[in-house]
Amino acid sequence: MSTLLIKNGTIVNEGTIFKADIFIENEIISKIASEINIVADKMIDASGLHIFPGVIDDQVHFREPGLTHKGCIASESKAAIAGGVTSFIEQPNTVPNAVTQEILEEKYQIAAKTSYANYSFMMGGTNDNLEEVLKTNPRNVAGIKLFLGSSTGNMLVDNEETLEKIFSSTKMLIAVHCEDEQTIRENLEKAKEQYGDDIPVTQHPVIRSAAACYKSSSKAIELAKKTGARLHVFHISTGLETELFQNDIPLEEKLITAEVCVHHLYFSDADYTTKGNFIKWNPAVKAATDREKIWEALLDDRIDVIATDHAPHTLEEKSQKYLQAPSGGPLVQHSLITMLEFAKNGKISLEKVAQKMMHNPAILFKIEKRGFIKEGFFADLALVDLNSDAWTVTKENVLYQCGWSPFEGKEFTTKVQTTVLNGKVVMENGVLNEERFGQRLLFNR
Ligand code: DOR
Repeated sequence: MSTLLIKNGTIVNEGTIFKADIFIENEIISKIASEINIVADKMIDASGLHIFPGVIDDQVHFREPGLTHKGCIASESKAAIAGGVTSFIEQPNTVPNAVTQEILEEKYQIAAKTSYANYSFMMGGTNDNLEEVLKTNPRNVAGIKLFLGSSTGNMLVDNEETLEKIFSSTKMLIAVHCEDEQTIRENLEKAKEQYGDDIPVTQHPVIRSAAACYKSSSKAIELAKKTGARLHVFHISTGLETELFQNDIPLEEKLITAEVCVHHLYFSDADYTTKGNFIKWNPAVKAATDREKIWEALLDDRIDVIATDHAPHTLEEKSQKYLQAPSGGPLVQHSLITMLEFAKNGKISLEKVAQKMMHNPAILFKIEKRGFIKEGFFADLALVDLNSDAWTVTKENVLYQCGWSPFEGKEFTTKVQTTVLNGKVVMENGVLNEERFGQRLLFNR
């Protein structure tokens, strides 16, 4: 048995902030009390630090297998730990696409050997793999992912009949990427007529328009209502879409839920001129007015979860012209601190950050014993200094294999100091432990 005692920290959990000690036996939190005086194998003094449950990021792309020139499970999960992210749910647009049970299981095998954080992988749906999709085990796989708009990896599901079949034949959570393909194609043709092959990146939200997002997500929601499917709409990027979601029922009872990503809360179309393709995402970062409406929906609980869509591409790939540069960017190392800086500026409360980044992903996916600081739960914790010395994101201090960040040049006065994963101190005072303790997530269903 190994024991860990964390003393004098300020815990942020389930809508409250309070000072307490945490005693951990092996992987599990065994006691939370105002003062614990047990001799433990290891003691951490968390004076001055806020302790959050570890972040559960429900949408990341870690690129393995097949795209490991961009990143791999080891490199990106290590960056996640540095950012206080202790669990991730990875998407199926790896190579080969995770669209059979065999390929999906291979990803779990890789993670079992190499992941620094807890992991789950989504099963990918296509126009013709319904049988395979239906074999997915709800106990140890997070859900089914459908690209209803094409993005990196060409996994578009555009056959309406298939879509209805998938929606009506599984009780598993279906997560969707919503952008209407035809609208995008038409907008792209118009942009090409106007600009030829050298389209400025400022056209990205015009091509991948708000109308394309709204059309696709409202269609998915309509189908979910018709079939009774459990739908989770990823990365809401427009004000219009926020009107499609409800806040008058508890999350546990919602059949249709929504996620927003950090970049859609942080950037706006005004940033394309300075950041260029480095903030080219699908769906696109849109107007500041969209961003404000998304914030409103997040705060009034129409949007349930904050994630990243962490999607690394190499510097070389991103440095190409707009049409060639792939969409996506790395975020897991900086997602929590970005949201906590918003909290320090009064935009959101610390408790709400914990709700949207830790509690709600656990509730929504029914993750077993994670997402809360609770006796009997896994000890996954992020110890954060909310008043650190100022530091700036540079190429030198990003841990992503791709070696860049959309936040380069941004100054933070918040730092993830220490991360605990399954009761093990996997980062202490900013120094990462080389041992790997990531576990496969299990689901209560
Ligand atoms: O910008 C994006 N990049 N959006 C996605 O949905 C996929 C991702 C990627 O895998 O590159």
